[in-house]
Amino acid sequence: MTQQTPEQIIAGQRQDWNRVAGGWEKWDRFFDEQMACLTHRLVADARLRRGMRVLDLGSGTGYPALLAAQTVGPNGGVTGIDLAEQMLDVARRKASSLALTNVTFQTGDATSLPFETGSFDAITSRFCLMFLPDIPKAVAEIARVLKPGGWLAAAVWSTPDKNPSIRLSMEAIKQVVELPPPDPTAPGIFRLAKPGDLAGILHEAGLIDVADQEFHAEWSYASPEEYYVSLTEIAAPIQNLMAKLSADQMRDVKHRIIQAATQYQRGDRIAFPIAVRFVAARKPLRDHCGTEA
Ligand SMILES: C[S@@+](CC[C@H](N)C(=O)[O-])C[C@H]1O[C@@H](n2cnc3c(N)ncnc32)[C@H](O)[C@@H]1O
Repeated sequence: MTQQTPEQIIAGQRQDWNRVAGGWEKWDRFFDEQMACLTHRLVADARLRRGMRVLDLGSGTGYPALLAAQTVGPNGGVTGIDLAEQMLDVARRKASSLALTNVTFQTGDATSLPFETGSFDAITSRFCLMFLPDIPKAVAEIARVLKPGGWLAAAVWSTPDKNPSIRLSMEAIKQVVELPPPDPTAPGIFRLAKPGDLAGILHEAGLIDVADQEFHAEWSYASPEEYYVSLTEIAAPIQNLMAKLSADQMRDVKHRIIQAATQYQRGDRIAFPIAVRFVAARKPLRDHCGTEA
């Protein structure tokens, strides 16, 4: 299998997430409610306070940029950056319906940040860093644009065994078509899933007080069918795998996913455990030579 260049990965990501932007808008309320604890945890890990200037990497439809904007208030400000213009259009509509005037969204690549050194008091990122072609390069950029003492707070998915709502669909597809074994170093949902994966890169970049914690929660659906529909409408990586299926194979996969999801029936809901890795670190106040960073 030929490896994709960083430019091809970026172009693929832009295309994938633009394609599912309508699905994210449709399911916004559902995921906002189900994932509120994750968004609040990032705001806490980044130590956001009123008046701060915050950068959110891979904001998509505005998570956690919108909560960050509410937290820093009118004297602070948030910039959300993402490759996918159509995801950002959704974020902009939500900002205006919340009457937030201190948040702006711009297209751009997290591995090459168009900001001056030391521009931000804090940086947040939810479910983006694992999709980057060159994570150390992005982390070097994070370290550059943070002010000395500023925190980075990032959320990435933990391992597939602890995230059945993602794993189920991949397993069902693999039962129906042969897929090449995943390259653990290629960008993807579980690229930063293991303890120390992202933390090690933050250390290498000279960030300090690195914390790496797995956080357990759950999200739930009204039915296995609702789960299946949401998956096909918002999960760009799963859509890419499904695009390889014939109509018959697609029916088979749907049946398998719905059957597998029924194992998680609890009361009248389908309740999936989820495991998310929260990784935070800060830029030292002084560089290695003791001068102000
Ligand atoms: C799973 S979505 C997460 C969106 C949002 N942070 C959330 O948690 O709802 C991943 C986002 O990362 C963005 N992304 C992927 N690669 C990127 C890159 N190199 N630079 C900026 N954004 C990127 C995608 O366009 C997509 O909107």
